[in-house]
Amino acid sequence: MSAPKIKKRVEELRKEIERHSYLYYVLDRPEISDQQYDLLYRELEKLEQEHPELITPDSPTQRVGQTPQSELKKVERALPMLSLSNVFSVEEFTEFDERVRRELARNEVETEKVEYVCEPKYDGLAIELTYRDGHFILGTTRGDGLVGEDVTVNLRTVNSIPLKLQGKNFPKLLEVRGEVYLPRKDFEKLNEDRASAGDPLFANPRNAAAGSLRQLDPKITAERPLAFYCYGVGRLEGASLPKTHLKTLDALAEWGLRVNKKYSHLAESAKEVTRHYEKLEAQRNDLPYELDGMVVKVDRLDWQRLLGEKSRDPRWATAWKFPAQEEVTKLKAIDVQVGRTGVITPVARLEPVHVGGVTVENATLHNEDQIKQKDVRIGDYVIIRRAGEVIPEVVASLPQRRTGHEKKFEMPKKCPSCGSHLVREEEEVALRCDNAACPAQVKARLYHFISRHAMDVDGLGEKTAEQLMDKELVKDPSDLYHLKYEQIISLERMAEKSTQNLLDSIEKSKKTTLERFLFALGIRHVGEHVAQVIASHYGDIHKIMDATAEQLEEIHEVGPEVAKSLSEFFLGKANRKLVERLLEAGVRPAAPARAKDQSLAGKTFVLTGGLEKFSRDQAKKEIEDRGGRVSSSVSKKTDYVVVGTDAGSKLDKAKELKVPTLDEKAFVALLEKGP
Ligand code: IVH
Repeated sequence: MSAPKIKKRVEELRKEIERHSYLYYVLDRPEISDQQYDLLYRELEKLEQEHPELITPDSPTQRVGQTPQSELKKVERALPMLSLSNVFSVEEFTEFDERVRRELARNEVETEKVEYVCEPKYDGLAIELTYRDGHFILGTTRGDGLVGEDVTVNLRTVNSIPLKLQGKNFPKLLEVRGEVYLPRKDFEKLNEDRASAGDPLFANPRNAAAGSLRQLDPKITAERPLAFYCYGVGRLEGASLPKTHLKTLDALAEWGLRVNKKYSHLAESAKEVTRHYEKLEAQRNDLPYELDGMVVKVDRLDWQRLLGEKSRDPRWATAWKFPAQEEVTKLKAIDVQVGRTGVITPVARLEPVHVGGVTVENATLHNEDQIKQKDVRIGDYVIIRRAGEVIPEVVASLPQRRTGHEKKFEMPKKCPSCGSHLVREEEEVALRCDNAACPAQVKARLYHFISRHAMDVDGLGEKTAEQLMDKELVKDPSDLYHLKYEQIISLERMAEKSTQNLLDSIEKSKKTTLERFLFALGIRHVGEHVAQVIASHYGDIHKIMDATAEQLEEIHEVGPEVAKSLSEFFLGKANRKLVERLLEAGVRPAAPARAKDQSLAGKTFVLTGGLEKFSRDQAKKEIEDRGGRVSSSVSKKTDYVVVGTDAGSKLDKAKELKVPTLDEKAFVALLEKGP
């Protein structure tokens, strides 16, 4: 290639890479595969290596700087970054809203309608980015508001931060504010890696993000997939702001910055803010990032200016905090519990603490390795986390609060219930009691059997179940169905009515579904989802009992671990007998109704390129709803390749292997009419 041609190709590649990186990181709407992206990137890297004179600081290859810094420089900013007042209840939010209206009225504003923008409150770190003439020139942490730290080289590694603004209408000077965070999944992966390297774990994504951003070596930051959302503007020169906050977000998006339009909601009244708060709180644990509340902002910027600020907090915005999911408390003792499959779990006994909406006294420590990793000692102050329905867990210890009287914990060598020697299987972190007749296991199996997602015997709590077993009225779950009125009423705290209720709910539980029944048996590795998959495949308990591991493994979504565990379970005579006794007692597990439409059963699809009417996930769901399967790579076994716009190498592969291809129209027809 001639020199001008090379230069042209380098420029082309940069444009392409920038476009795809924007589609992927900012809009979350990729059009090409990761491999195709890598190909472009590598081509650019190679040309730049051969012609270093062509490298520009804005090139996508130049995100990661090479030289570590000796310190993070302090930077004073022109406009301080404010913080936010907090509200914790509807009452407190109502007071905020009234204050806003009063202040506006004092300024002679008619306040019939104040509209608020509701935004997620990301649990990360506030930062400010400066763009001059469209180029990213400075990135700082919030610091104390006025003086922050220069983390430009680290922020350059964050892919959702553009190095250049887009379009022609961007301002000459733009300071944009937002939050850097570490997505939940990446946080978990980071901690897994740290655990295997023996490094101390981060307590939460926020700490991990802070630790990653304030690195002296940008190469370390580059290894942590930090992400960024912006939510505000500092200084602005050479353009004027729109009239509202929501439109400001639109302008930022137009300049190529990442804003969270999906979760920025314009509420027309305080009541709607409340409704939106409830909705967001219900969703919080399903989002890919952590939130600690919802930020409410007056939408009109002129009113924001009128309202101004009080000390460090704007009067036009507030943070409506979610109930905390993490709290600190003292760990009094560590006990071990024997689960239904014999797994030994260390459990922290805590000074009671209110977290995630309930009082928590016990929290799981998972296993011995985790106790070591987190360096948790008896007597420590620890961080407890309870998110939604999830079992509370100890996430970290606070070594800085130690007095010297804390004690290290050792796992027992013998089962605390039956005294059997505990075993640790290869490749497994858990210690197990191998004695299936271990009284603790028998109890745990009954608790599981009656639980809500299993046979759902409501009215039978663990305390009553324990009495039934201690009195030997129930030795295994099938005995439940032979209990007599007199036997139940003889128990502590049982009266006539509660006895009858319990008998009724035991009776009611007989009518169940095959998947619940299978799940209720408490077979290792057979969770609710797997139980459902297997139940709908066989439709009959005897067929499941007779299936070999090989046959089970052929079912999509059943792996070797599940297949082995399930087939071994039913090789055990006692387990087969238990099933028969349950059926004889009148338990009737009904076969699941087949999914209505199975027109694509057994067909494998590969999707490539963008479709107009469906997102990737929607297309996948349409196929799966009809019994079909979506795979990520084309092989001879693929039945159809669905080809959208900008289809890549998968299309070439399909042609090579002569796999039928469908354009969007043909795909829709197939969904409607079947093959
Ligand atoms: S606005 C003048 N919007 O919350 C308003 N802050 O407690 C200043 N935060 O330091 C901030 N998500 O780190 C705003 N959507 C959002 C936010 C947000 C998270 C953080 C930010 C700020 C802290 C204040």
